[in-house]
Amino acid sequence: GIPCVSYENVADINDYEQIIYLGGLYAGGVKGLKNTFSLLKKSNIKTIVVTVGIADVSNKENTDKIKVSLEKQLGDDIYKNSLIFHLRGGIDYGKLNFMH
Ligand SMILES: Cc1cc2nc3c(=O)[nH]c(=O)nc-3n(C[C@H](O)[C@H](O)[C@H](O)COP(=O)(O)O)c2cc1C
Repeated sequence: GIPCVSYENVADINDYEQIIYLGGLYAGGVKGLKNTFSLLKKSNIKTIVVTVGIADVSNKENTDKIKVSLEKQLGDDIYKNSLIFHLRGGIDYGKLNFMH
């Protein structure tokens, strides 16, 4: 029953009482995360952030680096109120284009 919306189609992030944000890591940051959360006015909202990236997430050095980046993207208050999970994704090299 939880609505699933692309970050590009979120009209007003303040309309949600709980946010679960899943996003791919691109050059160290989660795609769309900073812009999406920059519009959030409440800092006490319960947030779950799930990162998906190619790096080995059983390696604490890697997840520590991702967390540093998340803190910068989310800001201190939202970061502190967030539950963070890391998933390992993949790269389909055949689908990469010039932009990638
Ligand atoms: C241009 C580019 C940059 C990437 N940068 C990172 C990165 O900094 N850290 C990481 O763990 N994975 C990185 N990846 C891997 C992606 O996070 C991984 O492919 C992920 O599964 C993408 O999810 P999506 O296809 O749902 O966007 C990168 C992939 C591409 C194509």
